[in-house]
Amino acid sequence: MSANKESWGSRIGLILAMAGNAVGLGNFLRFPMQAIQNGGGAFIIPYLVCFLLMGIPLLWIEWSMGRFGGRFGHHSTPFIVQEMDTKRHFWKYIGTFGIFTNIAVASYYCYIESWTLSYVFHSLFGTFDGKTQSEVAQFFADYTDITVSTTGIPYEAVIFYLICVTMNTYILSRGLQGGVEVASKIGMPLLILFGIILAIRGVTLGTSGAPAGCTDCDSILGLNYLWNPQFDSLANPKVWLAAAGQIFFTLSVGMGTIHCYASYVRSKDDVALNAMSAGWMNGFVEIVLGASIVIPIAAGYLGLEWVKEKAGFAMAFQTMPYLFEQWGSFFSAAAGVMWFGLLFFAGITSSLAMGTPWMGFMQDEFQWGREKAAWSFGLFTTVLGLPTVFFYNEGVFGEYDYWAGTVSLVVFALAEVILFSWIFGLDKGWKEINMGADIKVPEFYRFVIKYITPMLLLVVFITSFCSPVGGDWGGAISGLFSGNGWNLDNGSIIAQIMNKGLKEQIAQATDAAAIAKLENNMFFINIGRLLLLSAFTFIALIIYIAYDRRKKTGKVL
Ligand code: PHE
Repeated sequence: MSANKESWGSRIGLILAMAGNAVGLGNFLRFPMQAIQNGGGAFIIPYLVCFLLMGIPLLWIEWSMGRFGGRFGHHSTPFIVQEMDTKRHFWKYIGTFGIFTNIAVASYYCYIESWTLSYVFHSLFGTFDGKTQSEVAQFFADYTDITVSTTGIPYEAVIFYLICVTMNTYILSRGLQGGVEVASKIGMPLLILFGIILAIRGVTLGTSGAPAGCTDCDSILGLNYLWNPQFDSLANPKVWLAAAGQIFFTLSVGMGTIHCYASYVRSKDDVALNAMSAGWMNGFVEIVLGASIVIPIAAGYLGLEWVKEKAGFAMAFQTMPYLFEQWGSFFSAAAGVMWFGLLFFAGITSSLAMGTPWMGFMQDEFQWGREKAAWSFGLFTTVLGLPTVFFYNEGVFGEYDYWAGTVSLVVFALAEVILFSWIFGLDKGWKEINMGADIKVPEFYRFVIKYITPMLLLVVFITSFCSPVGGDWGGAISGLFSGNGWNLDNGSIIAQIMNKGLKEQIAQATDAAAIAKLENNMFFINIGRLLLLSAFTFIALIIYIAYDRRKKTGKVL
């Protein structure tokens, strides 16, 4: 019998927690960068299409699967998916993804979250005052090189990481109502308020921040670049893949997190409208607020060309404090606290969600108490996450993001949509979605869920598996027929497994020091991979043990 007696306190609490789960660093840091790197307005159409044809259907699927599993006392994916097909016994192992991905993503996600926490303090205490742009960028470089002390605190990055994981663990140990809901009710409104203030600043900045001689320093140029749709990119599979990846990450689908949250929804309660509310709220925060802060403000002061050239994940940390400095010392501190505070709230309401599938499983299957479940999650995350902190510059962080934050999501989403539409059966599935629904789900989505979503997912998976150099499929296929073989893109899954990109860099490097550094990176990247694989195996083993226990007590699934 499950010791798990958790439930949501109120509908608003549930929606805020679910929206908090979805709204995260992905909305404010990842989305603008993906958009810039994929041609700005060129990215928007594939993004919206992926939202409507993959994101929304997956939200309905995952919410209803979760609520379905909850009826049988399951609160994480292994036995939720097993319950949907009791004939084939392998499903519970596919469900490993729904715990693994959460822990693996949490382990590096908490690292970024900890930067935001530390930057709140540094903004408040004026660390960035008077620094030039390159000094602010250098501060970040030193911060992530953990052996360099930026502010006299040795190993500051490690300390903030541990503080951050501990905070998450503590809140989780207070339970859904006493911890997660409280954090979401405080964090989400503040995040939206801070976001609106900063977005207004971003949009109204215009050319007023342009230094003398800068011809493209205009926040409106930044916005236009993001929003001017360009149709030529529609034929580029790379842009589509990036858009699909962003939709997965930002909605937290394909992770197992939504299943877990939804498993605490009572079976009479609505999932159809709730799923939409959380999904659209996430969309609003991403495309309205997320797009109106970093890019326009950076474009306003540094120029659009600069932004296009430098766009990267860490840009917000390397530039924003410097840009805020132009607002005078009081407003720069206030803006810094708002911006990094907003990121921190966005981050923590997501990382909390990542803790719950592991906790749910240990509570359900091993009758662990909430505290023990929470602290064991903290420990697991720390062990897996510290290598990303220590070896950030060696590429371990990026490796985790690739396997756990990108590939795993697509693999699991593909498996679950096949299970839902074709094995559990869409007739039953459709009933699940509509049970207790407060909206009428358009009939059209029946067709989408059965055919379009699985097909698109399959295409995404296959294309990312073996995409050719530059995403040029036409050229690659004709090359194959003319005997040139298949030249894999370095971002494809197969090339990644073989470390093709790194090996090329090593082959091209000329001096011994550069070669040694790259080989060193390869070593740590391989270790990182091994760690992820061990974590996955460990979780699968725990699932096996849980299954074995069920067999002994006659509750086989
Ligand atoms: N959706 C979150 C974001 O946009 C990330 C996340 C992924 C959260 C998976 C929970 C689970 O940052």
